[in-house]
Order: sequence, then structure tokens, then C-alpha cells
Amino acid sequence: MNLKGKTVELRAIKKEDLVTLNQWANSPEIQYWLGTWHFPITETDQEKWFNSLSTNSLHQRFAIEAPELGLIGTANLVDINWKDRNAFHGMLLGDKDIRGKGYAVDTVMAVMKYAFEELGLERLDGSMIEYNVASLKMYLGKCGWKEEGRQRKWYFRKGKFWDKIIVGVTRDDYFTLIEEKKYGDK
Ligand SMILES: CC(C)(COP(=O)(O)OP(=O)(O)OC[C@H]1O[C@@H](n2cnc3c(N)ncnc32)[C@H](O)[C@@H]1OP(=O)(O)O)[C@@H](O)C(=O)NCCC(=O)NCCS
Repeated sequence: MNLKGKTVELRAIKKEDLVTLNQWANSPEIQYWLGTWHFPITETDQEKWFNSLSTNSLHQRFAIEAPELGLIGTANLVDINWKDRNAFHGMLLGDKDIRGKGYAVDTVMAVMKYAFEELGLERLDGSMIEYNVASLKMYLGKCGWKEEGRQRKWYFRKGKFWDKIIVGVTRDDYFTLIEEKKYGDK
């Protein structure tokens, strides 16, 4: 089932996306913002990754599509813990020029709607490098997430250590937010 935001649509990742995903995976600009790290990835590696994508219900990965633009990024809901009803969420928008236009907020709202209104989860986890102001502003300032902790000097980037900010959102936070913002109303 695709997830619909107000403008974006989240769908399954397809083989045709792999060239773009490979460019993003190898982009130093994008990887600088992400908490994950890896060696350069060939298109063959990317295909192996695609073929290994889990079809079980524990890790869900989405391509973000915007009208007229097509594929603009990826989002996920992984490590879904059905017993305690939580999961980890992350996302990226590939092209710098389409950031800061609200697509990320719309994506996170769609992911939260799915997680809380369809899957019945109780909370979502996330984390970011302390210098990722756009991500912090987006999750904490716009999407109702809260800072829940900080692991000091967790990341090594550009010759320096940086803290990991641990963030999270509960079902109650989400429903309070959509009530306040009337986000569901078109
Ligand atoms: C983090 C990310 C998803 C946010 O996307 P976005 O398109 O900027 O988000 P939105 O436009 O929906 O909203 C973000 C808010 O942060 C603000 N913002 C964006 N970039 C900013 C920056 N560099 N400095 C300060 N504020 C910034 C936006 O202006 C907006 O607030 P506003 O509406 O009050 O102006 C995007 O920057 C991205 O993909 N970055 C690279 C990958 C990444 O960091 N992923 C997250 C890892 S935790």
C-alpha cells in the first residue's frame, strides 16, 4: 500500500530507482548529513542491496515521489518491534535544491500517519548528528518529535567528533500535533 501525504507519495523502491539511489549513496554531500557510513558502492552492490531488500514486515523502505518531480528521496520504517510497538525511522531528500520546501515534513507526517493510524505502533525512534540543523528543525520544530537524549562524541566527521541526538515521537505526541495543526484537514 502506498502512503499518501498532502503532496508526496511513498511507494516501494523499484529497480529503475537504483541509478539515482546509487548516486545518492555515493554523494559526499548527502552522506555528510547521515548517521550511517559506508565505503563507495558500485551499481552492482546497489543491485545486491535491492535484491536483498526484506519482504518481511520488519523493515519497510519507501521511495518518496513528488508531483512533476518523480523520485526525490527515500524514507524508511525499520526494526519494527511488534511486541513493544516501536520502530526506527529515517529519511533523505537527494537533491539540495528541493530541500526546505516542505516535502520532508509532508513525508514524516505520512510515515507517522501510517505508523500510528495503520500499524498501531506506540512510538518511533530517530537520531541525527548534532550539526544537522535542518533535520532537527524538521523533526523537533515541525513534526512533534522530542529530543530524548544525547550520546556524546558518537560520530567522527571531517576530523572532529560530534554528538548523536536521540529523538522520538509517541502516538500521543502525533495526535496532539495533528489536532493542533489540523494537519489531516485538506
Ligand atoms: C533533513 C531533511 C530531510 C529536511 O528536509 P527539508 O526539505 O529541509 O525539510 P522541510 O522543508 O520540510 O522543513 C525543514 C525546516 O527546517 C528548515 N531548514 C531546512 N534547512 C535548514 C538549514 N540548513 N538550516 C536551518 N534550517 C533549515 C526549513 O526552513 C524548515 O523550517 P521552516 O519551515 O520554519 O523554514 C533534508 O535537509 C535532507 O534530506 N538532508 C540530507 C539528509 C538528511 O539529513 N537526512 C536526515 C538524517 S537524520
